[in-house]
Amino acid sequence: MKILVTGGAGYIGSHTVVELAQAGYEPIIIDNFSNSKESVLGGLRAILGRDVPCHRIDCGDAEALRGVLKQEDNVQGVIHFAAFKAVGESVAEPLKYFQNNVGSLLTLLEVLPEFGIESLVFSSSCTVYGVPDALPVTEATPTKPASSPYGRTKQMCEDIVHDLAAAPGNKLYTILLRYFNPIGAHESAKIGELPLGTPNNLVPFITQTAVGIREKLTIFGNDYDTVDGTNVRDYIHVVDLAQAHIAAVQRLLDRKATDTVETFNVGTGHGNSVLEVVQTFEQASGQKLNYVIGPRRPGDVPAIYADATKAAEVLGFKTSTSLFDSLASSWKWQLTLGK
Ligand code: WQD
Repeated sequence: MKILVTGGAGYIGSHTVVELAQAGYEPIIIDNFSNSKESVLGGLRAILGRDVPCHRIDCGDAEALRGVLKQEDNVQGVIHFAAFKAVGESVAEPLKYFQNNVGSLLTLLEVLPEFGIESLVFSSSCTVYGVPDALPVTEATPTKPASSPYGRTKQMCEDIVHDLAAAPGNKLYTILLRYFNPIGAHESAKIGELPLGTPNNLVPFITQTAVGIREKLTIFGNDYDTVDGTNVRDYIHVVDLAQAHIAAVQRLLDRKATDTVETFNVGTGHGNSVLEVVQTFEQASGQKLNYVIGPRRPGDVPAIYADATKAAEVLGFKTSTSLFDSLASSWKWQLTLGK
């Protein structure tokens, strides 16, 4: 069963490719390598013992996409990861985010019906909730204005999928997975997060600081109304998150979806502050981390974590990795990468 994985060389994409292959699917990667490295393919080969087909194209290039789908006959479903993902960067460069994140989805939605593909899993985000009134957020929590252009692109993409599903003659079934904060790496340490340049996300910044690439971590604000003043997030191990995609794809291909668009939170159900992450990292790695408190980062929401009940009940999905073990796997990966 061939599954096209857009952005399959990326962080979540590559871990999902492994889980797909190990679950008996045939993943086909497309990636433009704008935020990933070809070495990921070697990591996949090392884990799986075979090459995963990979086409170096931009998902927003309709003709190139058609070419791949013609060549890879009989693709049954698509998992669409290809997108930019840094909240802070999106505030500085909003157009880049709208063009890439919305543009690639539009292209995909235009091309998929031409090939009779009716199953789509879409990478959405907890950022669609904006600053929620109450925690944890359920899928029924009303979305509020997004705090960043990144979050807005995910809201727009969700709206586009809903509008399309309501159009006459629609045959596409989509599962929207709203991710919380993925961290960690594959236990083999053959693949993991590979940020190009200075990391935007917390955990790679922490591990790069601990290994000596960065001088210090700046914690973006400690005057929020949270347990210790720092932001609270729901950190989910990337392999757990990847497994949610297998459950979602399986549900679509089994024609078990009860609606043309279904939405699931994919988080652990627990919130941790930035300081808690730092302290847990210090325990998991045995390293003392150099950090300072700096100003708030534009676009950050004070706190968000998932109510993960729906994914458990409907998808049978539960996370199994603790924050400690997740951070230990991030550290093991960083040590493999070295300086
Ligand atoms: C986490 C916390 C920062 C860096 C991520 C993804 C995004 C989306 C939601 C799924 C925040 C703080 C960070 C640093 C810090 N996921 N921080 N110093 O913004 O929650 O967004 O999850 O769609 O795609 O990027 O994640 O890792 O950037 O920040 O203090 O140097 O760490 O303020 O509270 P974020 P992040």
